Amino acid sequence: MNPVLDTILYRRSIRAYEERPVPDGVREQIIQATLRAPTAGNMMLYSILHVRDPQAKETLARTCDEQPFIARAPLVLLFLADYQRWFDYYLLSGCEDLSERQGQPLQHPEEGDLFLACCDALIAAQTAVLAAESLGLGACYIGDIMENYEVHRDLFHLPRYAFPICLLCFGYPTQQQKELPHTPRFDSRFVVFEDRYHSLSPHEFEEMFRPSTEAMQRTRNLPDGIENPGQWNYRRKFTAAFSREMRRSVRLMLEAWSGR
Ligand SMILES: Cc1cc2nc3c(=O)[nH]c(=O)nc-3n(C[C@H](O)[C@H](O)[C@H](O)COP(=O)(O)O)c2cc1C
Repeated sequence: MNPVLDTILYRRSIRAYEERPVPDGVREQIIQATLRAPTAGNMMLYSILHVRDPQAKETLARTCDEQPFIARAPLVLLFLADYQRWFDYYLLSGCEDLSERQGQPLQHPEEGDLFLACCDALIAAQTAVLAAESLGLGACYIGDIMENYEVHRDLFHLPRYAFPICLLCFGYPTQQQKELPHTPRFDSRFVVFEDRYHSLSPHEFEEMFRPSTEAMQRTRNLPDGIENPGQWNYRRKFTAAFSREMRRSVRLMLEAWSGR
């Protein structure tokens, strides 16, 4: 093994932190490592907001599906998929005039550009996670930042082409968190395919979900007539209130982004 693989394999999400700040120098090391992440066309289509204001953190703890540990995280970084900076620069650089002279309409960022910016922002975020982990910190993603777009837009003064794609909480893990077991993963044969996509057969699904099916069978009092992990996931995640809110919020942001 080598130290990079050790860091990757040891990592788990950390949701409770020691009550000590992350020193500025450590935060700066994380940021500098993050800025070295690969980025499409070397354009750095993301921005990172360091959320310092305790009130803003309290708001996030509520708007991100009631997750109080966000407010207690010593370091909170918001990753934005950001085309605004480049689009502002295009305008500043006279690209509108250029387009007119060439008889073309001014191109605005579209959905494809948003996807590319999301790739950049998420790759940067995971680089930050691994850098932090290597420095003895723990981190947790907050995907619920995609909910309540209007609130986050107003809170952080986000322009049209800057979308919050993930929030990261960092801090020194408590002893209890360090001792947590790793969460399970699906076996690679259900996830990694050769040359072409492989739709799983009922038998493969049965194998894939056998550990969770067995765990579920040991649990009494399953809610709402739920019979298997598929139904559990469908009710508790896919159709849950937070998923519905995420869909509403992202739709609104897409409308703003595409000017509809
Ligand atoms: C895109 C994304 C969104 C996530 N959102 C949340 C979240 O809102 N709250 C939370 O506690 N964990 C969140 N997580 C952490 C996952 O729950 C965690 O990665 C998963 O359960 C696997 O556990 P591990 O990271 O400890 O291996 C998120 C992870 C990802 C990648």
